[in-house]
Amino acid sequence: MARTPLFQRATVTRIIKETADARTFVLAPHEGAVSYVAGQFCTFRVRVDDVELFRSYSMSSAPETDAELMTTVKRVVGGRVSNWLIDNLSEGDVIEMSRPAGKFCLRESERPLLGFSGGSGITPVLSLAKSALATTDRRVRLLCVDRDRASAIFDATLEELVARYPTRLEVLRHLDADSGLLDPAAVRAFVADDGAADSYICGPEAFMAMVEEALPGPGAIFSERFGAAEPVVAVAEPEPTATPEPAATAGTVTVILGRKKVTVPRNAGETLLESARRGGLTPPFSCESGNCATCMAVLTQGSATMRVNDALTDDEVAEGYVLTCQAIPDTAETTVRYE
Ligand SMILES: Cc1cc2nc3c(=O)[nH]c(=O)nc-3n(C[C@H](O)[C@H](O)[C@H](O)COP(=O)(O)OP(=O)(O)OC[C@H]3O[C@@H](n4cnc5c(N)ncnc54)[C@H](O)[C@@H]3O)c2cc1C
Ligand code: FES
Repeated sequence: MARTPLFQRATVTRIIKETADARTFVLAPHEGAVSYVAGQFCTFRVRVDDVELFRSYSMSSAPETDAELMTTVKRVVGGRVSNWLIDNLSEGDVIEMSRPAGKFCLRESERPLLGFSGGSGITPVLSLAKSALATTDRRVRLLCVDRDRASAIFDATLEELVARYPTRLEVLRHLDADSGLLDPAAVRAFVADDGAADSYICGPEAFMAMVEEALPGPGAIFSERFGAAEPVVAVAEPEPTATPEPAATAGTVTVILGRKKVTVPRNAGETLLESARRGGLTPPFSCESGNCATCMAVLTQGSATMRVNDALTDDEVAEGYVLTCQAIPDTAETTVRYE
């Protein structure tokens, strides 16, 4: 199967300071122009303190409106990669990035587009808005939520877009510092008569859950999750119990990573990523929630079912690709190869 290699090198040609905590990195991939659609992301492989880490960042550019490929990164307090990128990358540096992935993309539609962004969630929402404005006649309305004015990314870019599309683009800013946290009533007031619109949501998990719940419908909802699922917090001290051994089930899982190949007995309910680790391998991963595609690999024998797939396209799934952090083998003998 001839495919573009998963990772390639790209030169950082320009760095734009968007806010005190956010930078746009303009990238020139060494293999030539990258083919992507608005709303997609790339996964970056970086070494921080001698540890290889993978993180995904969405494109803030849109292929129809920007000649250059751009991604926008916002600092996360205590975060290893976001802070490393912002503090260490300089113009002219070379970085490793995956091919674009993700399904948070425009669907063929004539309905208005509503975008709901929280913080750095504006990155893919801006890309989608630029693309929809340039390639369709759809109305685009954005509700952009930030802590305060100083942390609002793309303020000037959005103002320029509104000036360019005054009858089709509306941007409503909500600043927590002025109005407190956004609530369901404010979401419904913003939607008003556009309940049938397509809604695109990206931001912190609690913000996204609130918007998803508040949307009155009947329009379609598309969500991009940046983080891992919220950890489940135990409310009461659980009774101590012995950790059950995973149940073995008939068959084996074989994992090929680079020049290493391991075969382990199949365990019921175990993902391919977990099987690979049990076999002593250290495959790439980032979110472990089915959002980022860092852990993708191709099945060369057998089949597997993904619990969540918010990253691979239908074509990639048809070609046999799986998110190994989500894929549980259906077959007794299963082989997966990381590329
Ligand atoms: C599809 C996708 C697209 C994305 N697009 C963007 C984008 O366009 N722009 C953007 O800015 N981000 C984006 N993200 C988020 C990005 O990938 C990173 O998750 C984010 O930058 C944080 O990574 P980090 O390495 O800085 O933080 P991490 O080091 O992963 O830390 C995250 C948080 O966990 C805490 N933490 C870390 N280690 C520990 C520990 N041992 N104990 C307790 N707490 C700990 C940190 O304090 C921090 O709050 C996207 C994510 C996905 C999945
Ligand atoms: S690690 Fe992100 S999808 Fe598997």
